[in-house]
Amino acid sequence: MERRTLLVLFSILLAGTPTLSQRDDRSEALVSVDVGVILDMRTLVGKMCWTSISMAVDDFYAANRNFTTRLVLHRRDGEASVIGAGSAALGLLNKEGVLAILGPQKSAQARFLSDIADKARVPSISFTATSPFLSSSARSYFVRMAINDSAQVDAVASIVRYYAWREAVIIYEDTDYGNGVIPYLIDALQANSIRVPHRTVIPPSATDDQIKEELLNLKMIQTRVFIVHMSLPVGTRVFSKAKAIGMTTKGFAWIVTDGIANLVDSVDHEVISAMQGFVGVKPYVPRTAELEAFIRRWKRKYRNENPKAERIDPSIFSLWAYDSVRALALAVEKVEVKRFSFEKPRIFGNSTDLDALIVSKMGPTILKAVIETSFTGLSGEFRLVNGQLQSSAYQIVNVVGNGQKGIGFWTPKRGLSPQLGSPTNKDELGAVVWPGDSTSVPRGWEITTGGTRLRVAVPVTDSFFQFVRFDEDPVTKEKVPTGYSIEIFNNVMKSLPYYVPFDYFPYTNSNGTSGYYDLLVQQVPKGDYDAVAGDVTIIAHRFQYVDFTLPYTESGVYMIVPLKEDNKRGRTWVFMEPLTHELWLCSLCFFLLTGFIMWGIERMNQNEHFTGPPLQVISNVLYFTFSTLVFAHRQELKSSLSKAVVIVWLFAVLILTSTYTASLASILTAAKLEPAFNDVGELVRSGKFVGYSRGSFLGDLLKPTFGSRLVPLNGPDDYASALTNGTVNAVFHELPYIKLFLKKYCKGYTIVGPTQRTAGLGFAFRKDSPLLSDVSKAVVSLSQGPFMDDIEKRWMLTNDTSQCQQPDAGGNRITLHSLRGLFLVTGVVSSLALLVACIGNLLEGYQERRVRPSETTPEGEDEPLADDEQPPVGVGLPAIGPGRDSAALLQDSSERGPSATEILRLDKVTQV
Ligand SMILES: *[C@@H]1O[C@H](CO)[C@@H](O)[C@H](O)[C@H]1NC(C)=O
Ligand SMILES: *[C@@H]1O[C@H](CO)[C@@H](O)[C@H](O)[C@H]1NC(C)=O
Ligand SMILES: *[C@@H]1O[C@H](CO)[C@@H](O)[C@H](O)[C@H]1NC(C)=O
Ligand SMILES: *[C@@H]1O[C@H](CO)[C@@H](O)[C@H](O)[C@H]1NC(C)=O
Ligand SMILES: *[C@@H]1O[C@H](CO)[C@@H](O)[C@H](O)[C@H]1NC(C)=O
Ligand SMILES: *[C@@H]1O[C@H](CO)[C@@H](O)[C@H](O)[C@H]1NC(C)=O
Repeated sequence: MERRTLLVLFSILLAGTPTLSQRDDRSEALVSVDVGVILDMRTLVGKMCWTSISMAVDDFYAANRNFTTRLVLHRRDGEASVIGAGSAALGLLNKEGVLAILGPQKSAQARFLSDIADKARVPSISFTATSPFLSSSARSYFVRMAINDSAQVDAVASIVRYYAWREAVIIYEDTDYGNGVIPYLIDALQANSIRVPHRTVIPPSATDDQIKEELLNLKMIQTRVFIVHMSLPVGTRVFSKAKAIGMTTKGFAWIVTDGIANLVDSVDHEVISAMQGFVGVKPYVPRTAELEAFIRRWKRKYRNENPKAERIDPSIFSLWAYDSVRALALAVEKVEVKRFSFEKPRIFGNSTDLDALIVSKMGPTILKAVIETSFTGLSGEFRLVNGQLQSSAYQIVNVVGNGQKGIGFWTPKRGLSPQLGSPTNKDELGAVVWPGDSTSVPRGWEITTGGTRLRVAVPVTDSFFQFVRFDEDPVTKEKVPTGYSIEIFNNVMKSLPYYVPFDYFPYTNSNGTSGYYDLLVQQVPKGDYDAVAGDVTIIAHRFQYVDFTLPYTESGVYMIVPLKEDNKRGRTWVFMEPLTHELWLCSLCFFLLTGFIMWGIERMNQNEHFTGPPLQVISNVLYFTFSTLVFAHRQELKSSLSKAVVIVWLFAVLILTSTYTASLASILTAAKLEPAFNDVGELVRSGKFVGYSRGSFLGDLLKPTFGSRLVPLNGPDDYASALTNGTVNAVFHELPYIKLFLKKYCKGYTIVGPTQRTAGLGFAFRKDSPLLSDVSKAVVSLSQGPFMDDIEKRWMLTNDTSQCQQPDAGGNRITLHSLRGLFLVTGVVSSLALLVACIGNLLEGYQERRVRPSETTPEGEDEPLADDEQPPVGVGLPAIGPGRDSAALLQDSSERGPSATEILRLDKVTQV
């Protein structure tokens, strides 16, 4: 085989050389470069692209007359099939010896053709094969002059998220084009927490009936958001069927990817009427003057070529085709084809054996030139990265009337925005007209299929009617559920942003009531009900059947236990109990302190009661302090200061004693009650029987702890009688129920716990119900408002609340803290009195001492000064301080020996 190849190469070389020299002779002659074009001329895209391509060649060489190369186009009709395109390619290589191929149109064809292109080293340039399956890196001679489909998935997901749809169905065609983007799309949706409950694949060969059947299946599911990724021929069939079966009416949302959105302006009236309200995503092309001129010329040319066309507008594919031709022409000119050998790829002889394909020597050079070409084309900046065009911005359009209306843009950096350069960083889109001419954003799902109403199961209980009970409607004589839970449910459903019709169905269990609520929630996944409204506790194991909303009331398992009397009255030291130890101690300290201060003050006033031998004084003082309290004979006090101290102290003692008396009286007279059991352990150890509400989950919960000592009871009256007659010693239940019980039977019972935490009472919904999060939100917003209190007041408060005052639990002793102000006042007043007395006493003593010596030497004041001729201090000698003078004086006087008069005079001097 190698020998054969060598032989072929040799013969081709031989054959090629004369051709080269021939052309060189005609030096100024143009070099024609054969280029194959493979399009499916029966499709809209094929026709559009051909118009563009032929226009591009004419335009290019009209503008660049001095170019030495000319592209010569050889068009082959690729038909729809892969084989069709393959044989067209082989024909082009074999017969025409093309150096590049423009096309093919479809991704599947491109995949096959790029293998041939790789083999023959002929660049295959496609502007319509957008499937991300085709990666240029793996197919070196495949050049994608288009944006691959995976670039738009984030834009699509952003739209779905923007309208707060949580689910979307993907409809796509079963081709390389259709399948290629699906993994990317699902990833993008998932990254935005959007579920894809269903995918529908429609083969291009599907009959209308098959399409209709698929669509009817989709109509039965709840999701109303459809993402369509199809080529136009399949898409148009799907849309007209969807319109026929009423799936393009109000409430539906359709999003189409660029495959269809690009062509909206060119589809027939019938198709566009089926697409009203659709939202589409397409690469954004800025409208330049050059583009406008091109569009005008293009339309004229296209109409000439296809006189039957209804509406025409060049799509982005036409622009890419135009730019591709330009890129190729520039590249070919750049490599100066004439300088190289003209060896052209062709298949040896008439063999169809691909091994016989001769490779193009020009291939690598042309490929490199094509990939490196960049210019500003009709579709914007034309530059290839990794052999493909890069996306910049996507435009979001809304199909309205005869065309489309831009509602915003999406860029990878900014996300959604109403204008491309708008400064806001928030996702925002313009107003959309949805299918069915509706301006309100579709909710994205239907509550129930086929317009049926939500079936809500309601538990039928025989106790605690405040939660759920059935009242007879006075008019219709039907049993309608009411109660706390039902009223909350009604209001929650009413506050949803959309109307949800529902009916209540009482759930009765003929089997008795054991595990009643568990059985109730188990009915939901069976399909009997869509939701449960009632006093259903949110417990982990119930989540295997249903999903719960957030709780509408708090809960937790508590015990009701009887109160037993506490025999405080018999205690020896009960008189100590009204005051805390600190208060006792503090009172004692202040008692002693006040006594001491009084003694001090009175002593200074020579009160004979407070002088004498120490023991007698102490007893006197204590007796006095105490007796002032009781007998109040203040006449024995001499000083008015000590009287003030006593008055303040008396005031403090008055308050202290009256508080003490009241507290002691309440301790001794009020019946002190305390729970008979304080925790579960106590109950278990003492082997007592306990009760629980029949049918609740508590039976299962308590079974391991209490075993056979568990007694099912039916409602509050039963609890009370069972607790009274000693059948059980405690009853376990959840907080809201216990509150209700205690409202009725407040005397003699109390609540202990919680023994177990639970999430509270909630509404149960079918698993994955789209309502769940909205209902949860409504429950929470209802709980935040005043409305919940109102409902609670109406249902949970019995009318005779006044008689039910719970006795004090005891232990409310008077603390030092509560009386600290009193002690502060007493302390401050006493200390001040003592201080004032001391100062007064000192002053008095001083005056006495001062008066006595001055009487002996009344006129000797100035004598020593005159004797010593000492200048008066501070006169003429400002620098010498009085201290210095005093020291000098002291020295003088010490020489002569000190005398009282001198010291007094000294005082006088220093005072000057
Ligand atoms: C063609 O002419 C233009 C000026 O008219 C010149 O800039 C360009 O280089 C020429 N190209 C070739 C291939 O000669
Ligand atoms: C598709 O295009 C995007 C963005 O232009 C790029 O990141 C991605 O790698 C491309 N995918 C393939 C398979 O070429
Ligand atoms: C090529 O085809 C012709 C008839 O079209 C046949 O006579 C000839 O043998 C074929 N050559 C080869 C190499 O198969
Ligand atoms: C009745 O209870 C038994 C066991 O307690 C259970 O297996 C059965 O399914 C229940 N039947 C109904 C109709 O609830
Ligand atoms: C105690 O009360 C319960 C509940 O009312 C009742 O079932 C039980 O028979 C009573 N027992 C006695 C001994 O009265
Ligand atoms: C409270 O009293 C009113 C009027 O007397 C009555 O309508 C209402 O039902 C009573 N509520 C309860 C919880 O008994």
